[in-house]
Amino acid sequence: MISRRGFLGLMGAMAAAAFLGCESKTKTGAETNVRTSSVKFQDVPWPYEKLDPNKVADLAYESYMHHHCMYGVVNAVVEALADKIGEPYTYFPTKITIYGKAGVSGWATLCGSLNGAAMVCYMVLPEKIADSVINDLYSWYEYTPLPTYVPEHPVKADLSPFPKSKANSPLCHVSVSNWCKSSGYKAFSKEREERCGRLTANVAKKLVEMLNEVKAGTFVPKYPLDNVTIKCRACHCKGSSLEDTRGKMACWECHTKNITLVDEMENHPKI
Ligand code: HEC
Ligand code: HEC
Repeated sequence: MISRRGFLGLMGAMAAAAFLGCESKTKTGAETNVRTSSVKFQDVPWPYEKLDPNKVADLAYESYMHHHCMYGVVNAVVEALADKIGEPYTYFPTKITIYGKAGVSGWATLCGSLNGAAMVCYMVLPEKIADSVINDLYSWYEYTPLPTYVPEHPVKADLSPFPKSKANSPLCHVSVSNWCKSSGYKAFSKEREERCGRLTANVAKKLVEMLNEVKAGTFVPKYPLDNVTIKCRACHCKGSSLEDTRGKMACWECHTKNITLVDEMENHPKI
């Protein structure tokens, strides 16, 4: 028969063993920094070959008309690379990316064409350079009057000149509503669909131009953040005194239209 003290002692030893076992597992995990698993996923980046930006733009416009914005960009680039390189691109199920439509299933968060472009960057580039291409592409998208792409055969609406607007944001909501405001067309109109199809082509084209430059070793970022956002970030973002914000989106688009309005915020430090 086991005494109460003996029982507790045994339990203690078992608990200690369990603890040690657990700790040794943690140690092993920390050493390798990854969970041990026999599953082998395909690694990226995949090979990239220079593509024709105009052809990819046409393909993106056409793909948009089938399955929306994110698919538009991803399908265009993957199809073009599958044509040139074959595997592994031929196996990539581009239809997964339909989810990105209208800022993820209609939530109007990240613009689907930008979501798709970022995925392509991570498909064909190492992380650091992918991030720098994404930064440049997103900034270009925010600050450039778009769309400028003109299809040979407009599918949804044939307006000439086609209304352009600055998105001022990588968000579908802001991008679409700013276009609606400046063009007078509704968010669920044929004209807006045409606008997003052309915008998707613009984004695919710009992305491919950048990827071609990376391939040629000539890529240099050309679209810095605007000066107001740089100032805001200096007090509110990483490494700043407040560090209560993260992000690179144009701050003034939501907080104020104009930096001078910060002065009108009662308690805000004057800058
Ligand atoms: C010189 C540093 C500095 C700069 C530059 C700066 N802020 Fe601030 N901001 C602060 C401080 C400090 C606070 C908190 C103090 C307060 O609430 O009065 C603050 C508070 C805020 C708040 C919280 C709301 C409020 O009224 O307290 C918002 C939003 C904000 N800033 C947005 C911005 C934006 C947008 C920009 C760029 C246009 C910007 N800030 C630039 C220092 C700065
Ligand atoms: C897409 C719109 C949007 C953009 C762009 C944006 N913000 Fe905000 N920000 C918000 C919203 C919404 C909140 C939450 C406000 C709330 O709920 O009171 C917020 C909150 C904040 C707060 C805290 C406010 C408080 O009351 O304490 C700060 C500071 C801030 N943002 C700074 C920035 C800075 C700096 C940038 C640019 C790097 C930026 N924001 C970009 C929408 C935006």
